[in-house]
Amino acid sequence: KRVGVLISGSGTNLQSLINATQDPSQHIGAEIVLVISNKPGVEGLKRAERAGIKTVVIKHTDYPSRETFDAAMNVELHAAGVEVVCLAGFMRILSEQFVKHWKGALLNIHPSLLPSFKGANAHKDVLAARVRVSGCTVHFVEVDIDSGAIVEQEVVPVFPDDTEKILQERVKTAEHRAYPRALKHLATGRIKLKEDGTLHWN
Ligand code: GRF
Repeated sequence: KRVGVLISGSGTNLQSLINATQDPSQHIGAEIVLVISNKPGVEGLKRAERAGIKTVVIKHTDYPSRETFDAAMNVELHAAGVEVVCLAGFMRILSEQFVKHWKGALLNIHPSLLPSFKGANAHKDVLAARVRVSGCTVHFVEVDIDSGAIVEQEVVPVFPDDTEKILQERVKTAEHRAYPRALKHLATGRIKLKEDGTLHWN
């Protein structure tokens, strides 16, 4: 499968997907053909360039609406023949149109064990709730934020003296294992999103 990855920042998850897809022994069944960032100059773009992957910057501030910004991304995704889109630290909410267009082929990674701790401050909320475990979730994207069928999860411990930064780093090491696994499930046809929004495992 031809994969497009959308990023906004450091791109460590992108890196894990690059490493996995470029390692023939992992049989991921996917190749990253395009990386789009809504922010210029971010580290993730450099990671893609170093790996020889085409990059495009599409600044959301150049577009009058979410829909026109998403349409501009779609032009690039289709031009590159992308079949699967992975969100990897992409900090924009996607339009309903875009989400429906890519239904069953659009994955996101969230830094908590969904459906707990949705939203942009997952680590902060986890620490405030004083739970003993957290983790990450790879899921299909639905119009509702941080919902959608769960493909992979991985658990990490939360320790009493954790800071947001320390917890984030621990969760990221789990993310970097979970995302390639999830992409492999999708790219190799192991999973399929059913019409009712639930997963079918082959
Ligand atoms: C990750 O924690 C991911 O779960 C969240 O944004 C962060 C992106 O990190 N959606 P990176 O850019 O992949 O390093």
